[in-house]
Formats: sequence, C-alpha cells, structure tokens
Amino acid sequence: MSDKATLEINGNKHEFPLIVGTENEVAIDIKTLRGVTGGVTTIDAGYKNTGSCESEITFLDGEKGILRYRGYSIEELAEEADFLEVAYLLIFGELPTKEQHDKFHADIKSKSIVDDDVRKIIDAFPKSAHPMGVLSSLTSALTAFNPSSVNVDSEEDMYNSVVKILGKFPVLVAWTMRKKQGLPLDYGSNTLGYVENVLKMMFKQPNEKYVQNKIIVDALDKLLILHADHEQNCSTSTVRIVGSSHAGLFASLSAGISALWGPLHGGANQAVLEMLEAIKEDGGDTKKYMAKAKDKNDPFRLMGFGHRVYKNFDPRARIIKKAADEVLADLGVEDPILEIAKGLEQEALNDDYFVKRKLYPNVDFYSGIIYRAMGIPTDMFTVMFALGRLPGWIAQWREMRLRKEPIGRPRQLYVGETLRPFKKLEKR
Ligand code: ACO
Repeated sequence: MSDKATLEINGNKHEFPLIVGTENEVAIDIKTLRGVTGGVTTIDAGYKNTGSCESEITFLDGEKGILRYRGYSIEELAEEADFLEVAYLLIFGELPTKEQHDKFHADIKSKSIVDDDVRKIIDAFPKSAHPMGVLSSLTSALTAFNPSSVNVDSEEDMYNSVVKILGKFPVLVAWTMRKKQGLPLDYGSNTLGYVENVLKMMFKQPNEKYVQNKIIVDALDKLLILHADHEQNCSTSTVRIVGSSHAGLFASLSAGISALWGPLHGGANQAVLEMLEAIKEDGGDTKKYMAKAKDKNDPFRLMGFGHRVYKNFDPRARIIKKAADEVLADLGVEDPILEIAKGLEQEALNDDYFVKRKLYPNVDFYSGIIYRAMGIPTDMFTVMFALGRLPGWIAQWREMRLRKEPIGRPRQLYVGETLRPFKKLEKR
C-alpha cells in the first residue's frame, strides 16, 4: 500500500502521509492541509471520520465487534480480572503484579477521605437534584479542596493525583445517592475491596450491619470493567479537550461527567429503563414502540439501540445480557422488564429498519436491569457508569498530557452573514 494520500484541489495535487496503527488501521495525516492549500480545511460534523489523537489505550473494531483494553479482550477481562486490575492496566499500560495491585489499592484507600466540608455543599442541593448534576459539581468542588495542580513531568505527582481521585470518587458517588435518600453519609471501610466498599457506602443502613452479597459484588465489578473505557467517545473526548488547555484533572473529569449525562451517551441507561417501564405501563405493546421508533415524525428512539462505532454488535451488550440473566436468577428476582427488553431486541433484530441501519443493542440496553436488581435507583444508573468510566477518563487524560498534545481547537466553516453595515437602534 502507498504511504501517501493525494488530494487534488483546483488542479493542484497535494500529498499527505498515511499513518498505520498497530491493528493496521489507516489514517491520513492532514496536519499540513491548511498550510499547503492556502486555507482549505476539512469538515466532519460529529467527528464521524476524524481521529483526534493517536492512542495506545483501547482498540475497538465496530464492524467485527472487538473491544480490547491495552491488547486484552473485554471478554477475558470481564471474566478474569477485577476492576482495580483493569483500572491499573488502563492507566499505566500493564496488568499489575500482586505487589503493585496491593500497593495501588493501599494508596487509593489512604487518599479516600473527602473533606468533611464537602457535606455542606451536598446539603445545599435540593433532594430533587439529579445525581449526575450533583456528582459533576462535587467533582469540580474537589479542585477547591485539592488546589495544587498536577505536575505532569513528575511521575510521583501524576500517581498521587490518580490514586486521590480513585479514592475519593466512590465516596462522592455514594454520598450523592444517600443524600437524596436522607441517609447519613458513610466513609466505608478500608478493610474492604474497592467494589465491596462502594456497595457498603451506598447501602449500609445506620441501624443494621451491612452484609456483602457476593453475587452483587461480582456483578458490579463486571459492569464497572465493561464501562471502564471506550476510546474517543463524547465524554472521553471532552476530558481530553478540557485537559488540553492544562485545566486540572478534577476539572476535566467534571466536564466529562456532564458530557456523559446526556441521553444519547451515558444517560441512555436511565432512559432505557424509563422506556421499558413506560412500555410495561402501556400494556407491554412492544410493536407500538417499534413503530414509534421508526416513524421519522416521532422523536422517540429505541433507547439502548444503535452506536456510533459498533455496526455489527456491541460485545459489551452480549456480556451484560448474559450477566442480567444470571444475576436475576441468582438473586431470585423476576423482573417483567427483562422479558420486555428481550422481546424488543428480538423484534428489532428481525426488523428491516434496524437491520438496514445496523442498529443493535448497546452496552446500556441491559445494564439498567442489573442495576435495578441490585437496588440501585434509576437516576443513579449514569452515576454508576461514571464510576466505571473513571479509570478510562484518567488514562486518556494522562496519555494526552504525557504526549504533550496541543490544545484542542477545531476549525469551522463559516456560513453566516458576510460583512454588513451596523444600523443604529432607532433605524432598525
Ligand atoms: N432508534 C431508532 N432509530 C435510530 C436509533 C434508535 N435508537 N439510532 C439510530 N437510529 C436511526 C437514525 O434515525 C438514522 O436514521 P436515518 O438514516 O433514516 O436518518 C440512522 O439510524 C443513523 O443514526 P444516527 O443518529 O445518524 O447515528 P449516530 O451514529 O449519529 O448515533 C447514537 C448513534 C447516538 C448512539 C444513536 O444510535 C442513538 O441515539 N441511540 C439511542 C441512544 C443510546 O442508546 N445511546 C447510548 C449509546 S452507547 C453509549 O454512549 C454508552
């Protein structure tokens, strides 16, 4: 294959280098485009074909349904690893040794105390506030309590900022939920595993001993791993672009949380469950909702279906569907919503509209059903996604800073008014 791409504009030929990734993906390097063409730029709304960076973290092939973190398949990681191992792998590039794993966990635990004054901020939110808005604000507030900026040239400084946020974030997640429920805020326990501690902080009742349920611990561990990274999606690109202005890690993460909140992105897990509930309340007529989803005059979309990159199947959805079946059976939960979801999936997979557009269930189609079986409120689903995505955001932010990437600043094509004279107010 040639190592150059040629572009002809107005009879002038320009050559651009081709870059080949380790999985043989090819990209045209257009860094010099404006310079050599005298100002021509590219346009690609939604960045459907634009690579914003080179990255060593996550590989996905949407046509083949492949997802790998640092070269390891998502199927193997979900089956064999724990969430902290995966976090370490994403952030530092290699699976930790037992010693590195234990040190990593001990360091995270040592940084997990959140300043007690953060409670005052939580108290100021109305109970009706959406947990994602609260979580984003609290993450941003951490900047005020931890003012020193990260020296990216210092390995120690980078490491400390990583363990600090991994320690404090689960506390914010749990407090966000408990405040809404009117429960006392809990600091958890440093004797527990990372995921066990999250569950204890979320669910311990003040008048009861908290007993861990292994099925729930394992299921949450798996869900967090499946959500841990997904290369340059909307929230991750946000984290990278905010961080590219050299804004701090916590501020960049807070922006990523806001991006994740939207129903077209992480907010879909809440939207899926609300949709399934609505279908159930409406008599379980899945055909009616299929018709709505296909009607171009109806804004309704089948939430949890479709993906910008996966055009065959989402490997995470396969793992989660199986986990949903197992977890509900193990917990003895019978949820009619699971049957509605399976029915919808079957209809969509056999429907021309969905087949033609390559719309398949995504990671969020079944995750809410598991969260619900665990007793997690619907409006906390996207917060759980954020907890899972945290290591991915950190890894991508760290990579972007270590590679000394320039500030993110897209171009545009101006299509507004050309120069016109100003008219004074009385003359308009
Ligand atoms: N229901 C019905 N039609 C759909 C759906 C859907 N869920 N998703 C896409 N389509 C249709 C579009 O209307 C469009 O049809 P057209 O070609 O006739 O105009 C076509 O499929 C292509 O859709 P786009 O919106 O152009 O695809 P894009 O890649 O921009 O969007 C997205 C991907 C946002 C995920 C979309 O499929 C969607 O809105 N899905 C529902 C929300 C959702 O589940 N989001 C979670 C994604 S996973 C994640 O972020 C963790």
